[in-house]
Amino acid sequence: MAYKILVLKGDGIGPEVVGEALQVLKIIARRSAVDMEFKEGIIGGHAIDASGTPLPDEVLKLAQESDAILLGAVGGPKWDNPSAEKRPEQALLGLRKALGLFANVRPVKTVKELIAASPLKPEVISGVDLVVIRELTGGIYYGKPSEKRTSKEGREAVDTCFYSEAEIARVLRFGFELARERRKKLTSVDKANVLSTSRLWREIATELSAEFKEVAFENQLVDSMAMHLLRRPKDFDVIVTENMFGDILTDEASVLAGSMGMLPSASLGEELNSGGYRVGLYEPIHGSAPDIAGRDEANPLAAILSAAMLLEHSLGMRPEAELIVQAVDEVIRDGHRTRDLHGGGGTKTIGCKAMGRLVREKIESEEG
Ligand code: IPM
Ligand code: MG
Repeated sequence: MAYKILVLKGDGIGPEVVGEALQVLKIIARRSAVDMEFKEGIIGGHAIDASGTPLPDEVLKLAQESDAILLGAVGGPKWDNPSAEKRPEQALLGLRKALGLFANVRPVKTVKELIAASPLKPEVISGVDLVVIRELTGGIYYGKPSEKRTSKEGREAVDTCFYSEAEIARVLRFGFELARERRKKLTSVDKANVLSTSRLWREIATELSAEFKEVAFENQLVDSMAMHLLRRPKDFDVIVTENMFGDILTDEASVLAGSMGMLPSASLGEELNSGGYRVGLYEPIHGSAPDIAGRDEANPLAAILSAAMLLEHSLGMRPEAELIVQAVDEVIRDGHRTRDLHGGGGTKTIGCKAMGRLVREKIESEEG
């Protein structure tokens, strides 16, 4: 049996960074006894151009038949008109929803050698090791109605934030189970002083915390959390929050790691794949960076680390995942930096391809 892995390179720097990550996966496939079958599909702006829709039916079908999906990024100035009916971002939202990927796992760790690349003080960020679990298939991203319309008073628009008890409980449970395996601390983030959905969120989080007595539990309001995250990031272990708060907090948290170019993510659901592991979508948290696309300047490490998460969560290949993480660490330690890591010490600024090649060489050198 071969694991079916769907590769969706997408727009902007997506093809470059995923190209490097894919080569890493191919090396791992070769050195292990695990069979991997790679298929490619179009998504985002490219898919709009080629087929008139950001997530063509046949690509969605391929995704539904896959054991894991590796994705680059979607979007770019060409498709930027916010009032256009078809937008690249719809592909992402559609995939997440269709595959039931409710738990978005975004680990944030500082790398010692890159601390100087962050604008934050070294003593504040050294040793940060936290995971944000962002609810990914509910909340204001999906609630109906969501539209711009015209009333007697003029233009108006509405978005709806909706959460059911089941949606809140499953992602919090995911977070508590993860916290139990880590440093046993969970911070639930909401806006319970204002929003009804947040009050329900807090109620359920507090109820669930009674089931996980070994996990230290706290609630935080999202506005003060935004501040705590920069002032005392080392105090956090697992942070669980709803869709939009998680979107915002994870971009903020990326500053702790020095660059968005370092941060991978996994989006997981309840469905198990042919190997008995969770089906997942893996992507760097950075966007399509159209300004540097096609110039061999992008940092492929977030995509490569996303491939490592894919191996761990969807293929059960933890040692291989760790090998990749170690290879990335060593390349950084050797002083190699892509442009985004400038200011993070090191000696040489290198391109996307060279960075990918160095990581692969490290992995291969472990072989013998
Ligand atoms: C993310 C991105 C997406 C989101 C966009 C591209 C739709 O910002 O994955 O964080 O808002 O979820
Ligand atoms: Mg985002």
